[in-house]
Amino acid sequence: MSVRAVVGLQWGDEGKGKIIDFLSPGADVVARCQGGPNAGHSVWYEGQLHVLHTLSCGLFHPQTECYHGHSMVINPYTLADELVLLTKLGITWKGRAFFSPRAQLILPCHLAIDEAREKKRGALGTTKKGIGPTYESRAARRGILLDYLRDSSLLLEKIEALHTALEPELTAIHYDGPSPEKVVRDLRAFCDTLIPLLRDAFTERLHEALGDGKRILLEGAQGHFLDLDLGTIPFVTSSRTTAAGLLDGLGLPPSALTGVFGVAKAYTTRVGNGPFPAELNDATGERLRKVGAEYGATTGRPRRCGWLDAVMLRTACDVNGVTAIALTKLDVLTGFETIEVVTAWDVDGTIVERVPDSPVAIERARIGSVETFPGWTEDITGVQEFSS
Ligand code: IMP
Repeated sequence: MSVRAVVGLQWGDEGKGKIIDFLSPGADVVARCQGGPNAGHSVWYEGQLHVLHTLSCGLFHPQTECYHGHSMVINPYTLADELVLLTKLGITWKGRAFFSPRAQLILPCHLAIDEAREKKRGALGTTKKGIGPTYESRAARRGILLDYLRDSSLLLEKIEALHTALEPELTAIHYDGPSPEKVVRDLRAFCDTLIPLLRDAFTERLHEALGDGKRILLEGAQGHFLDLDLGTIPFVTSSRTTAAGLLDGLGLPPSALTGVFGVAKAYTTRVGNGPFPAELNDATGERLRKVGAEYGATTGRPRRCGWLDAVMLRTACDVNGVTAIALTKLDVLTGFETIEVVTAWDVDGTIVERVPDSPVAIERARIGSVETFPGWTEDITGVQEFSS
């Protein structure tokens, strides 16, 4: 039996999709546990790059079963598109992809609210996929569970109640999206596809797999510093992105965890607003963005870039109990005369080696010290072994 988690150690976009794809041949079950279409996991399949936002990348490997846990938020349109893509690629998903009936739907009203909030000054810089508003409905215990898809009148009742609760905000943003009746009608088009994906005994089957000694891989989305509680608040996503969050998002006990792969890019990037002490607003940052093709897989936005930040990595490794690190995109650094790594932050004159708990202090943090390493000029793309 093994339960291994893959978590991002920075602000997402570390290349988790590639690592999941690399580890999937050694897994029987691959599971997405949190987040939704704000994620963009890129995988090469038969010579072409594909990006999955909702479905687990484990589906590219035929021996796996792929679970999608209760902490996920699902846009049915995105999900349906991805199922069509897999079908076109000749990948079987029926009988392999399972969803918790407790996972929640992202509705047009959530998308409209996210979009409207992003137009205001001081916006978070979200992916505008309706993630925050959907998780807010969930926390208010008004969320629309996938489970409700099975009963149209219950679905309508729940969506009407949600719209009523959101009415002040929907009025303020001049919401002109579909009415609850229209949402239900539109959702009917997905029911034949989505309902068979719901697994009533989701938790039981998963625990059976655990008991049978199956190898389970947890596919983290986003990254440690986007975690709702432990990230750079308020510039975070709305789910728990840590290893503990992944277990919780799937209904697995902490004692089951046998390893944690922390994925970090060889430099740091962030998409969206918020503090970024190691950010380079200069030609070096521009070069990292250009060579690393640092544009969002979900939104296409240019990513902010900086050197590798060891302060962030130390904290993320501590909290997630990282047992192995996958350092990605090292080849992007080829050709730099020197390479820097941030080793400490300066917070109002105090030098710290771990990320402070105070989000206010994080906002004020600057680079405290760096270590400089000589660069290399050899093309290291595709190198499989380390030797000097
Ligand atoms: P949301 O998750 O769309 O609400 O966005 C909240 C913050 O998380 C924004 O800064 C987004 O750019 C960031 N974010 C969410 N998902 C990802 C991701 O998969 N990669 C990188 N950043 C993300």
